[in-house]
Amino acid sequence: MNHLIPLPASLLPTQLEFQLGPDTQILVAPATPETLRVSEFLAAALRRATDYALPIVPDPPAHARDQIFLTLHDDSTLGAEGYELNLTPDGVFLRAQTPAGLFYGIQTLLQLGAPLSAQEPKTWRAATGSIRDVPRFAWRGAMLDVARHFFSVQDIKRYIDWLAAYKLNRLHLHLSDDQGWRIEIKTWDKLATIGGSGSVGGKKSGYYTQDEYRELVAYAAERFIVIVPEIDTPGHTNAALAAYPELNCDGVARELYTGIEVGFSSLCLDKEITYQFLEDVIRELAALTPGEFIHIGGDEAHATDKTAYTQFIARVETIVEKYGKRMVGWEEIGQTKISARAIAQLWRGEYGAQAIQQGAQVILSPGKHAYLDMQYNEQSPLGLHWAGYVEAQDAYAWDPATFSADIGESNILGVEAALWSETLLTFDDITFMAFPRLTAIAEIAWSPQAARNWESYRQRVAAHGARWQALGLHFYRSPQIDWE
Ligand code: ACM
Repeated sequence: MNHLIPLPASLLPTQLEFQLGPDTQILVAPATPETLRVSEFLAAALRRATDYALPIVPDPPAHARDQIFLTLHDDSTLGAEGYELNLTPDGVFLRAQTPAGLFYGIQTLLQLGAPLSAQEPKTWRAATGSIRDVPRFAWRGAMLDVARHFFSVQDIKRYIDWLAAYKLNRLHLHLSDDQGWRIEIKTWDKLATIGGSGSVGGKKSGYYTQDEYRELVAYAAERFIVIVPEIDTPGHTNAALAAYPELNCDGVARELYTGIEVGFSSLCLDKEITYQFLEDVIRELAALTPGEFIHIGGDEAHATDKTAYTQFIARVETIVEKYGKRMVGWEEIGQTKISARAIAQLWRGEYGAQAIQQGAQVILSPGKHAYLDMQYNEQSPLGLHWAGYVEAQDAYAWDPATFSADIGESNILGVEAALWSETLLTFDDITFMAFPRLTAIAEIAWSPQAARNWESYRQRVAAHGARWQALGLHFYRSPQIDWE
């Protein structure tokens, strides 16, 4: 029980063992499409680890023994995502108010199972004890930059699997930047066909069709992850400016950009067509995105006039709201007038207070802790280091509530690990930068501050390293951790 990540809110090991047997069933009550689906998720994972059939039994009689029993019941202290998990030698009892709570309990249960490697094959056992668990923050995010380099639908799904395993619930996709535009927009089709053909160094370009994006949204939703699409504006827009000459103030299309400098591009805020373009893009994205958020970027608009920027953000928020969504933006939007529904994402820690004064909440992604693209050290083969080197301990050992004197716990919607892809080309590159830092951010987002500390994390994550290794995950063997 002592290697769980994220650490549960409360945990009482009882030092015994539950073992799956050939007759173990997964009982579920009440049986609804959602509870049956999460039961099937558990059954599929356990069937992969054993030879057992593990049938799902809807609405079984009470007092079944030697079973895994999933139930929904009213317990407001568990909230929308919490769960209670009791393992005894006689059975596993998982309760939650919601299917999401059951899903998180299942992730815990799967971590408690003995590692897949080096065991007598086809058995599965777990240490016993009781857990009551609720998350600290509602927003537990990961951002992936698919604009600098493009990543396939398959790669995104594999990343989603890992996010779900660590109880993250937001995948923020950075879908456009100077180098590339990655989402099909039917009313402006050259964004994808021209803008999508660019990338850093001219490598790994492409775009998601709307059907592919819908497929990602659905895959994520099955794992209780909300996709947050970002179209970065008014800067970081060279790919759009290359696709459509009319979006440029001088009416001349820009060349596709393959470098990694920032801050040189801007939409033309004086032209009405700019707002028609934004409305079309936001309308199509909103229709594709069941989640409540649209991220409009707003960072590093160094090539945009300051007054025009302020008016622009207000107008963009009106458009986002018109299509029934909440605006998320990088912290620079805090300098402008935003509504209390807006969400500002801190990365430098300069404008959070201004957002909070307007009633908005913040997401914390401080570069020196939560930017997974920062190099681990001077020798790191991948990544940048403008925010410093970020070793595993730097990612782990900080508290969102004390990060800034201006920002208290109630102002914080959550935490997000950002992964920019200027130097990343492959899924292995992604996971090398993400692990073991993504798991640190996941724990910060979920676990009570008082329960966690670096020494405990470094021991627990070593056990995860053994599992990552067995599953072929490429990760960074930080010298700060005594890997098993
Ligand atoms: C950012 O890193 N420009 C948000």
